[in-house]
Amino acid sequence: MIPPMTILITAGPTREAIDPVRFLTNKSSGKMGYAIAKSAADQGHRVILISGPTNLNVPDLVDYIPVESTQEMYDAVEHWIKKADIAIFAAAVADYQPANISEQKIKKDAETITLKLVKTPDILGSAKQKFGYQGVLIGFAAETENLEMNAREKLKRKGCDLIVANDVSRKDIGFDTNQNEILLISVDYIERPPKASKQHLSHIILEHAVELAAPRDMD
Ligand code: C5P
Repeated sequence: MIPPMTILITAGPTREAIDPVRFLTNKSSGKMGYAIAKSAADQGHRVILISGPTNLNVPDLVDYIPVESTQEMYDAVEHWIKKADIAIFAAAVADYQPANISEQKIKKDAETITLKLVKTPDILGSAKQKFGYQGVLIGFAAETENLEMNAREKLKRKGCDLIVANDVSRKDIGFDTNQNEILLISVDYIERPPKASKQHLSHIILEHAVELAAPRDMD
């Protein structure tokens, strides 16, 4: 029997406002993160799901914290991560946000307009380095090239225990599909489970997470 743990999961896209009716976003459906949340809740873990806007039903028995922007997701993670034994960051967070949000709807006057973007806060990179989180930290890497190399680099740079990497250049897996093919990379090992449904892969990801958490529990 696995002892119940508290698992924080981020999922979905973020929305970065440009003006009151427009925003920047991406193709994330939230399916991978929600599948992990469902598996974890089904196994009796306490799940805190911090999610950007999706069309998905929130799994039963999950503490659901809806957010829109990266900054809101950052604030929610900073608040809730203290309670977590495992944190899995499956959200497709925007890398850049508009430097200024127009208070009024931008008018169609000028022939061209320029949108200035600034970097969003790095939530995953802040977990250990700023929020003082000491549990198991799992990040995702969505790449279109050099999957393994980029994932290894991310593992180190963001202080993760595990990176779940997938190739988003393929149409049959990744963003907004039900299937995925992932690479699991830790400091000690690399595993390539066969292509499968996101629900099936969520069990594999969770198994790795719980395994990584187990030795710490025995301290
Ligand atoms: O650096 P990159 O955005 O590719 O990292 C992807 C991983 O980092 C994902 O797990 C994603 O949820 C997380 N991330 C984050 N905050 C950001 C950007 C990415 O938590 N601002």
